[in-house]
Amino acid sequence: MNIEVRFFSRGGHTKKVAEAIAEAAGVAPEAITVPFSKPVDLLFLGGGIYAGKPASEVLEYAKALSGGNVKRVAFFSTSMSPTNGFAAQVEENIANDIEVIEPAFHCPGQFLFFNRKRPKEEDLSKAKDFAAKTIHKLHPPT
Ligand SMILES: Cc1cc2nc3c(=O)[nH]c(=O)nc-3n(C[C@H](O)[C@H](O)[C@H](O)COP(=O)(O)O)c2cc1C
Repeated sequence: MNIEVRFFSRGGHTKKVAEAIAEAAGVAPEAITVPFSKPVDLLFLGGGIYAGKPASEVLEYAKALSGGNVKRVAFFSTSMSPTNGFAAQVEENIANDIEVIEPAFHCPGQFLFFNRKRPKEEDLSKAKDFAAKTIHKLHPPT
């Protein structure tokens, strides 16, 4: 199974989560500017929330994904608010032939005086668990 991790991170918080997910998946995390070298069975796609929305770069990226190249996607995000709508807003931009794996993963990300020092180690452990469970769902050990 080819797993890829792509993220968009202005302040580095989502990047930390991407690194944890990639570690659990045994792959390298990459920014969304890095293309795939082969078809993808599972893409972990993440970003932050800025003024209530995912970055336009992420929405454009999601729109350009093709079901011929990416079978499934699982979302992760960081934001100040726990109900950030990242997954729902990005999913609207995803082609119908790409399967969206639920649940998505949300992690608190520091913003001004909110969520100070998040993500912290405990958050990154949860991110690793999320990655392991998502992969396990698709590929249970025999
Ligand atoms: C300009 C700006 C606007 C933001 N707007 C929101 C927002 O509307 N809702 C929210 O929950 N978090 C908001 N945040 C917090 C970010 O989503 C949070 O810091 C996140 O971890 C950023 O991810 P990044 O460091 O990977 O870019 C905002 C942050 C910035 C810098």
